[in-house]
Amino acid sequence: MSYRSTSIKSKWTKTKWLLGSKVRTYIPETLTYSRSNLSRMFSRYSTVFFKPTGGTGGFNIIRIKKLADGYTLQHNSEKKRFKTFDALYGHLNKRARQRSYLLQKGIRLATVKGRPFDIRVMVQKSNAGSWKSTAMCTKIGRPGKVATNYHQGGEVGYFWQTLSGAGFGKAAVKRKEQELKKLGEDVGRVFDRHAKGFRELGLDVALDDKGNAWILEVNTRPTVYPLKNMSDKSMYRRIMSYARQYGRKR
Ligand SMILES: Nc1ncnc2c1ncn2[C@@H]1O[C@H](COP(=O)(O)OP(=O)(O)O)[C@@H](O)[C@H]1O
Ligand SMILES: [Mg+2]
Repeated sequence: MSYRSTSIKSKWTKTKWLLGSKVRTYIPETLTYSRSNLSRMFSRYSTVFFKPTGGTGGFNIIRIKKLADGYTLQHNSEKKRFKTFDALYGHLNKRARQRSYLLQKGIRLATVKGRPFDIRVMVQKSNAGSWKSTAMCTKIGRPGKVATNYHQGGEVGYFWQTLSGAGFGKAAVKRKEQELKKLGEDVGRVFDRHAKGFRELGLDVALDDKGNAWILEVNTRPTVYPLKNMSDKSMYRRIMSYARQYGRKR
């Protein structure tokens, strides 16, 4: 896809930008993978995510839970158990030899009909130069999977419908919508301070069981075609009307 919007692959680079800004309160604790950081994360949290610094599409997202008598790890729908920290560390190390990984505090995702979901906030910059949150949808995870991504069998949902189904009242949905739109636009301005040429960003935002929002990652090449298949095409059309301004065709 060759259109004019800057792309940054490293989740660690982008996380550091966010941590150095006022949106830092939205970032779950994130550290680079090492033995001491793994141990530090489990001293603080019972669920930790292990993800490739350069990954996309929900591939190779691993969730690890600490149990009374060891650890359990899940990748896609496959589970493994380890009796000791060293056994877990040895297993993760095999993967970390191939590519670099991050550790992130696990967020217990809000659920709708028993399925975990997160939110995509699409932010785009018009030719006039200001950031605008142009669309928000939800990604509802396939039961039994770790990642909610479309490529992992996740389903796209409407923001209002999903949050109502998750038990948020009308006023609470409205407040979340306002909060997340502003968050998207704030993130756009943070990214502009670090590199030139950003025209679009796709935030992956989790809501925890208390309804607090957490930025899991910021995509610089967000996919939009899943929105094309929704019965209401207005989100897709709005995104594309901005996207054409920077040469994105699909
Ligand atoms: N810290 C976390 N807590 C809870 N779920 C997470 C966490 N990190 C990732 N996930 C789940 O995995 C999905 C993919 O993770 P993400 O960081 O967005 O990587 P990718 O670039 O592969 O999309 C998220 O949309 C979410 O469903
Ligand atoms: Mg993602």
